[in-house]
Amino acid sequence: MLMVDLIKKKRDGHRLSKQEIEYMVEGYTKGEIPDYQMSAMLMAILFRHMDADETVQLTLAMMNSGDVLDLSSIKGIKVDKHSTGGVGDKTSLVLTPMVASLGVPVAKMSGRGLGHTGGTIDKLESFTGFHTDITNEQFLQNVSKIGISIMGQTADLAPADKKLYALRDVTGTVDEMSLITSSIMSKKLAAGADAIVLDVKCGNGAFMKTEEDAVKLAESMVDIGKRSGRNMVAVISDMDQPLGYAVGNALEVQEAINTLMGKGPEDLRELCLTLGSHMTVLAGKADNEASARAALEKVLQDGTALDKFADFIEAQGGDREQVYHPETLPASSMTIEVKAGYDGYVEKIVCEEVGNTSLLLGGGRRNKADVIDLSVGIVLQKKTGDAVKADDTIAVIHANDAQKGKEAAEKLYKAYTFCREKPEAEKLIKKIIQ
Ligand code: URA
Repeated sequence: MLMVDLIKKKRDGHRLSKQEIEYMVEGYTKGEIPDYQMSAMLMAILFRHMDADETVQLTLAMMNSGDVLDLSSIKGIKVDKHSTGGVGDKTSLVLTPMVASLGVPVAKMSGRGLGHTGGTIDKLESFTGFHTDITNEQFLQNVSKIGISIMGQTADLAPADKKLYALRDVTGTVDEMSLITSSIMSKKLAAGADAIVLDVKCGNGAFMKTEEDAVKLAESMVDIGKRSGRNMVAVISDMDQPLGYAVGNALEVQEAINTLMGKGPEDLRELCLTLGSHMTVLAGKADNEASARAALEKVLQDGTALDKFADFIEAQGGDREQVYHPETLPASSMTIEVKAGYDGYVEKIVCEEVGNTSLLLGGGRRNKADVIDLSVGIVLQKKTGDAVKADDTIAVIHANDAQKGKEAAEKLYKAYTFCREKPEAEKLIKKIIQ
């Protein structure tokens, strides 16, 4: 088989076979197929697309390019959750202890990655002593004992995706449904869960800007998951403004804890209850979403989920007392209030600009080697549709550097637009696909 023949085949609009896809993924992962040939192939796929069968084969070949986790020693149906990513998305921090409280085993691999804030693992490192460099045995033991464990994504999980994603990023070939689907699903399938709940974000702060595109991506991922023998549900949720109020690592942890204490923002709580209900039903711990939801509301209300979170933090070296005293988490040295300067309503908040403000303050990474400042970020005070007076504070900047704080306040102000009439609120949960 020659790579150049496969490139021509796809260029001319033909399907690639299972063997051809496996040859291409294996060859590229091993370094036998050069970047220039794979770049040409990616561009051919972008223009000619892959059908559902080709996408399954691509996903499986990428999954099999590295380790595939065996979670069979953990009793019960293992359900994983994946978010396509957004600003202020701290859902995993709330959701995992909620469902673990109902006996849903949570064995999760999470990332750090690049972005406006850190990933779940960075956020969790706000707890003194918390770490994820545990052995596979410890990881499995913790899930069996306390019902929840989170581990860093190993280099050997879907290595083909790591190489391909880096190449897509610099060749203008990220935006193709089959490539996005296989990229996300190869990692999820390799992480070993029996069932997967996807939170597919849509809106100005998401990868998918329109509901139509988000539904297409969700349907494609659900289809691949089912064809690979997994139970699947996808929730299409709004990302036209940040989720909750806090953006920044320790600030988001604080908001997650407040939500576990029953005092969190309504949108975050609602999304966690929706995703959690589906996870609980897929795990066989409730007969339907309504009874799952009632059980989840109870563990939030009676403190069980909060205690579960503390057990998890302690089991991975963290200080459990900080869960009950979030004011002891890392805090910035200064705060700056941003005023509305307008009488009316918040019309829109451009998520990306809020994210970029966090990045400017040092809350995220531009390059892999960047060190994150866990204490900085933004706490919004007003969200879309809220009434404002000129002197109202719309957001508070948490900074450790006066100059950066000033720039951040200016940047954040530009993320807001105002209007005279109250705007229609976007629906948080737009669609469920299963
Ligand atoms: N996230 C991924 O992991 N892969 C993509 O292709 C897009 C988003």
